[in-house]
Amino acid sequence: MAPWVLRYHTRAAALEMQGSSVFGRGFGKLRRIPLASLPDLILLRDEERPGSMYNGPMSQWSFPEIEGSSSCFFLHLTLPGERSAPPPEPEISLDQTTPLSSAAAYYQEETKYSRTTIHRFRSLDYSKKPPQFKDFQSENPISLVPYLPFTHIPFTRDPIPPPPPQPPTPWGLADLSRLLFFSYGVTAIMDSPKIEKTYMRAAPSAGGLYPAEIYLAIWDQPFMADGIYHYQGKEHHLVPVYEGSFREKLNACFLHAPALLDASFLVLVSGIYERSSWRYGERGYRRILLDAGHLVSNLSLMARETGFNPYPLSGFQDAFLNSLLFLGDQTEVALTGLAMVYEDLSFDPIPCKPFLPSPPHPAYSPPELPETGDLFRDLHRLSAVGPDPFIPSQEALPGDDDYDPTVLPVSRFAPQRDPVLLSSNNVDFSDTVSRDLLTRRSARHFSGEPLPFDDLSAILAFGYDLSPDSLPDPAAPPVFFGRSLFASYLVVHSVDGLLPGLYHFAPETRSLTLLRRGNMAEIACEFSLGQDLVRDASCLLIQAADLSRLVTRYGNRIYRTLHMDTGIIGERINLASIRLERGSSGIGGFFDDEISEFLGLPSTTAILYLTVIGMIPKP
Ligand SMILES: Cc1cc2nc3c(=O)[nH]c(=O)nc-3n(C[C@H](O)[C@H](O)[C@H](O)COP(=O)(O)O)c2cc1C
Repeated sequence: MAPWVLRYHTRAAALEMQGSSVFGRGFGKLRRIPLASLPDLILLRDEERPGSMYNGPMSQWSFPEIEGSSSCFFLHLTLPGERSAPPPEPEISLDQTTPLSSAAAYYQEETKYSRTTIHRFRSLDYSKKPPQFKDFQSENPISLVPYLPFTHIPFTRDPIPPPPPQPPTPWGLADLSRLLFFSYGVTAIMDSPKIEKTYMRAAPSAGGLYPAEIYLAIWDQPFMADGIYHYQGKEHHLVPVYEGSFREKLNACFLHAPALLDASFLVLVSGIYERSSWRYGERGYRRILLDAGHLVSNLSLMARETGFNPYPLSGFQDAFLNSLLFLGDQTEVALTGLAMVYEDLSFDPIPCKPFLPSPPHPAYSPPELPETGDLFRDLHRLSAVGPDPFIPSQEALPGDDDYDPTVLPVSRFAPQRDPVLLSSNNVDFSDTVSRDLLTRRSARHFSGEPLPFDDLSAILAFGYDLSPDSLPDPAAPPVFFGRSLFASYLVVHSVDGLLPGLYHFAPETRSLTLLRRGNMAEIACEFSLGQDLVRDASCLLIQAADLSRLVTRYGNRIYRTLHMDTGIIGERINLASIRLERGSSGIGGFFDDEISEFLGLPSTTAILYLTVIGMIPKP
């Protein structure tokens, strides 16, 4: 067949058909394109214009989704004599509730990326980019710099001043300094002539926008006054927001969670809407929650290193807590708390319910002409608890052990083989995690080489907090808000000892079950908006939830914790990969319905998050 030649402005791209594949040559790169994607889509790279996208004939749109160095063109074309397949019949939900009756399901549906809606993203106006840091002016900030475990400030190389004398206490400012710096301090500065400096932080963030903020509520300590403090990452300072005793108020906010009674302080994580919606529009809220999950993961791991047991508490009265933090509700909102109990004080297991359902609501009526942000604000508001405490029955609360398969999505693909069990390999972070947090970065490229199966086993085991032999410590706080509420799938491109294909991953049995056989690296790359690192990775983890069913049971609030939990897993995978000298990255941009279809799930399934794992190219 003669090659198809495409002309676009002054650039040229040629496509040619060979056997069952179509090859696209564009801008000096040759890419293999699976026939399944024709006749609708051809992917071509654009090395010169990172972040640009062309969609449809001669219409140019800015494409803010592509991150890192990945960039591509989408060119839609219909080959003569062939027509696009008719749109699939709408899914019929087996649920009693209509799939979009909740704010969560409606928001999820409205924020799906598809090839026909992705063009809605126009070019980014950098002059309107929200500031990366909150600027709290204070006469008396508490500098945490002198307590850093370095001799010099990492970037300026200025010597670190000696710490002022401190009262003899079991723990103090040095511990807070380490906890905050290695969780969310500035660990690199990216300087670019085109855009202003990006201060890269210890936690990853979609698009490097860092919408999460940290506050600390502290009481009864001799080295600092009772109060609520804001953590200023750029300066590594704590700034008082509210001085005074308010422990009782916080207890009431968190509905008297037992962990708070024993806690020495409470870490609060919030999200600033605009930082993410500036780039991602309505879908930004998803990224905020995922980011918050990554950060919670760092805080929990660092808490253990600094001698604390961290109790995750996502159940609080929203309006009450937001007003305590002086947040505007419309601009910044509290997302979760972590009650920090000093290890020496925790003798007995402390009961902890990390999740609290929100009350049921009548069917959601969306605004008629929503402005960007109306939908996520509605969802956040309709997932709130309080002001009159909503006390659900204890049975309605999910826990790490409450594995209930009826709330999980089930693929229509039947198992092809017996399950493969993970090996017993582990990543040991019992000594320290701070050095991994200091040096961690998301992978930008992969070599495409096979990942050893033992490494995959260790990475997944740490990611999901699975312990092969030892029984879970009953006194250990939960790591997740409700890990058993979503299903996990692994697309294996290249892992030693595993056939390439789509697997269902069951953490509770540590097993991988093959559902579809074949190398699907190109397809995975395509449904991830053409990001090369998805194709070149060794495997891709996909998290999916039956949102309608979960909302019926737990209210809209489940939307928050589903995303935070998958962010927690993503961060743990990132750190385990780094420890094993492998790479990993979160992937927040994808064509939702294409993934559901690929997994054999109904389009009402919520695809929550993707994580790639692979081999780092040798220098
Ligand atoms: C929720 C989330 C989504 C992300 N999505 C993508 C993505 O789609 N593509 C990509 O290349 N990187 C993605 N990243 C990685 C970020 O680009 C990266 O974290 C950020 O640039 C900061 O760099 P660092 O992680 O190396 O510190 C994502 C990270 C997070 C936390």
